[in-house]
Amino acid sequence: MNGNAHPSIDHGLRGLKLERSVTPAQLRLTRPIGKIHEDHVTVKKITCLGSGFVGGPTSAVTAYKSNVEVTVVDINEQRIHAWQSEHLPIYEPGLQEIVYAARDGITAAFDDHTSEPLLESKGSLLSVIPSARVSARGKLFFSTEIEKAIEEADLIFVCVNTPTKSTGVGKGAAADLGFVENATRTIARVAKTDKIVVEKSTVPCKTAESIRAILSENARPGVRFNVLSNPEFLAEGTAIRDLLHPDRVIIGSMPTAEGYSAAASLVDVYSQWVPKERIITMNLWSSELCKLAANAMLAQRISSVNALSAICEVTGADVDEVSYACGLDSRIGPQMLKAGPGFGGSCFQKDIFNIVYLSESLNLNEVADFWRVIITMNEHQKDRFTRRIISCLFNNLTNKRIAVLGFAFKKDTSDTRESPAITLVSNFVAEQAHVAIYDPKVTEQQIWRELVDYGGSLEKLKLNVEVTQSAYAACEGADAVVVVTEWDEFSNKTKLDEQVVLSEIDPNQSISPKRFDKPREAHLPSPGKTGFENKTGGVTTARDFQLTVKSLAAEVGRLDWARIAQGMRKPRFVFDGRNMLDHQKLEDLGFRVEAIGKASRKAKESGN
Ligand code: UDX
Repeated sequence: MNGNAHPSIDHGLRGLKLERSVTPAQLRLTRPIGKIHEDHVTVKKITCLGSGFVGGPTSAVTAYKSNVEVTVVDINEQRIHAWQSEHLPIYEPGLQEIVYAARDGITAAFDDHTSEPLLESKGSLLSVIPSARVSARGKLFFSTEIEKAIEEADLIFVCVNTPTKSTGVGKGAAADLGFVENATRTIARVAKTDKIVVEKSTVPCKTAESIRAILSENARPGVRFNVLSNPEFLAEGTAIRDLLHPDRVIIGSMPTAEGYSAAASLVDVYSQWVPKERIITMNLWSSELCKLAANAMLAQRISSVNALSAICEVTGADVDEVSYACGLDSRIGPQMLKAGPGFGGSCFQKDIFNIVYLSESLNLNEVADFWRVIITMNEHQKDRFTRRIISCLFNNLTNKRIAVLGFAFKKDTSDTRESPAITLVSNFVAEQAHVAIYDPKVTEQQIWRELVDYGGSLEKLKLNVEVTQSAYAACEGADAVVVVTEWDEFSNKTKLDEQVVLSEIDPNQSISPKRFDKPREAHLPSPGKTGFENKTGGVTTARDFQLTVKSLAAEVGRLDWARIAQGMRKPRFVFDGRNMLDHQKLEDLGFRVEAIGKASRKAKESGN
């Protein structure tokens, strides 16, 4: 990964204690845990098949928070070696600390209550925390000895890839279950003792039935398998927080004594750190569908707000204001309402295609059409943003230099799957522009891989695209800067501004939601003895407030936009795809700013 070979714990666990809010209404809706008092196996060893964005962090947190030993296995030796080293194969805030703690047995680096590191410094925890203790051995292991790990486990997490099929029946829509099937067949072949097999990968509804069939048909004599569905809801960039403080843990089982017993074993594992009322048991099929349903609904919100952003741009309404006002309606809520260049990531598009495919297989064509529109809107958003950029640059990108800031599909992750940056860069290249890309965490190799996969030969791409090691290098001589990923380091907002912005998106914060129409200091509360009243009637304590401020004050290297301005060709355009910049400040520096869901300069000049 670029730039941060020894990621410091600056990006550590600060703020991870902030739980997502669960309203009393939501809690009322939760179902009881179900029949968990059946006789059941106490899980001592878990093996996780797959060491990707789900398997790695999930296993690390499970080993860190429970008394269970977790072994993560993968066929990819290189990846496993990386997990065993100081250079983990994926970037995720807080992950390194949790892995060090669980894998190497460093126990004194964390506050047990908040899970925050006790000291904040750069470098390896062992070298900077003299008081760090190393226990006899860690509880988290990474290995390529798949068969041995399966044999030793009581419970197996299946966390392998389920990409969208690229050929054959259901091409472009159905999930490719090849990896799940291979994993299942290996478990059946190897296991000499009973196992609980937990489906964690996102799978189409009823996949557990196929898994059960493969396991029972291929089991050794006397070996019994129990299949559970336990979908993972973590989001990248906040994976550790989501795993430490999940909104809910869903466990689906067969409605049989054996099924309840297996579910009870898994409930016991999660109960070691998740409040019981957040652990929900249900039938296998509901559990499988609820993961797809949650992602489809979240993606639908983003496509809705992106559709509104198109209306805002021509009417002069401001999408941030519209989305803020909508989010204050407690029935709607403020999250996943931020307009942007289109959603990306490994889940949203894939899961919607999955629902579309499922609906069509069930002859529910109108239902399929309904969900498909969310993808159509997402593609339209990327297309609209491209066209706006071309139009502002005098309808011609030929030989113009476009600096693209950010390539990951969102901040705080090195993941680029379905990132809108891929489409945008490819569109610019098709217009004969010269594109310079900078991302603080995505490797150059990964950027080339994505662009080649999208279409185009590496040789040809390299004629028009370069990957730079700094934002300044990307912007030098540029006609336009396009902000695609909302990395904090691209921001030109002061910390004070961000406190106000944070208060807007977090209903638990008490800071006045009024924005930018008064001196900013006026919005800041002063800590009282008991804390602040917040909008939902709860109280934010002074300590919470200090923690928030502390996390905001993280010393993120911020871009010097004045320096960028100096190096650019005039007129200097900034296209803010994330509405993350202070536009007035940029205009004061001589930039022409165009932003998603805000009237364009042309519209403003014509009086809209
Ligand atoms: C998602 C789900 O949130 C998670 O529960 C599930 O387990 C996996 O899929 P993830 O893809 O990691 O997680 O990221 P998420 O934060 O949901 O963002 C997805 C995309 O939507 C990103 O490209 C992000 O930039 C975009 N987004 C998100 C918006 O454009 N606006 C928003 O308001 C929120």
